[in-house]
Amino acid sequence: MSERKKTTISTLMEMKKNNDKITMLTAYDYSTAKLMDEAGIDTILIGDSLGMVMLGYEDTLSVTMEDMIHHTKAVARGAKHAFIVGDMPFMSYQASIYDAVINAGRLIKEGRANAVKLEGGASVCPQIKAIVEAQIPVVAHIGLTPQSVNAFGGFKVQGKSENAARQLIKDALLVQEAGACAVVLEGIPADLAAIITEKLTIPTIGIGAGANCDGQVLVYQDMLAMYGDMHPKFVKVFAEVGTLMKEGFSAYIKECKEGAFPAKEHTFKIDAEIIEKLKGEEF
Ligand code: KIV
Repeated sequence: MSERKKTTISTLMEMKKNNDKITMLTAYDYSTAKLMDEAGIDTILIGDSLGMVMLGYEDTLSVTMEDMIHHTKAVARGAKHAFIVGDMPFMSYQASIYDAVINAGRLIKEGRANAVKLEGGASVCPQIKAIVEAQIPVVAHIGLTPQSVNAFGGFKVQGKSENAARQLIKDALLVQEAGACAVVLEGIPADLAAIITEKLTIPTIGIGAGANCDGQVLVYQDMLAMYGDMHPKFVKVFAEVGTLMKEGFSAYIKECKEGAFPAKEHTFKIDAEIIEKLKGEEF
């Protein structure tokens, strides 16, 4: 069997060409990233969704560059084969091209990501272009972009009207022209995502965007039923890990309370003579 190679932007382009679906999941820590990598995931996103699923914020807006670098480093240590994408948090790229390049550089240099992701279409094309010119691959993200939650007035499906759908197609073409190596399509009608996927030469990765994208991404706590605060329609639960974890925690609590844990096999031994001696000594 040939050794598994590291996924790169060329791999992703090749996969689009061959109609080989790209798999992406979010991860935020070493051990989860290692498990995903061993399971064969193509790419891992350290999403700013960490603000919600890991840190308990109500949206992603409070996530900092320091948060992102800290979690990206951990994932990069765990995943040896997956292509690693670090999310640029709110206000790390919107204010200026300078900020965008410096902060993208930090995710690569300190976080050891292979690419960065940022939200927006036409309005962030100058940032995408500058980051790509700094030799950093960029994954764009259009549609329901969570950092725009206040501008959208909530987490709402995008691109449903004719004008909005047309604008999303234009945005997709513009981010591609600016140099993005892939684009996440979030929360848009499936038929619109299919048109965009067909028009682009770079891969589209969908979340709540139907089956015709070149790849799919989900937040791992959603697909493992570990995060009960929101139940988006587009999520499928692939394993009831949340329930399993709760059962494990309850069993641990019960056994500790009853004195059933730790048992003999979980404890370390010492020479009985030493213990007898210690018992007799004054301290
Ligand atoms: O932050 C995130 O996890 C994301 C995905 C939902 C695409 O941006």
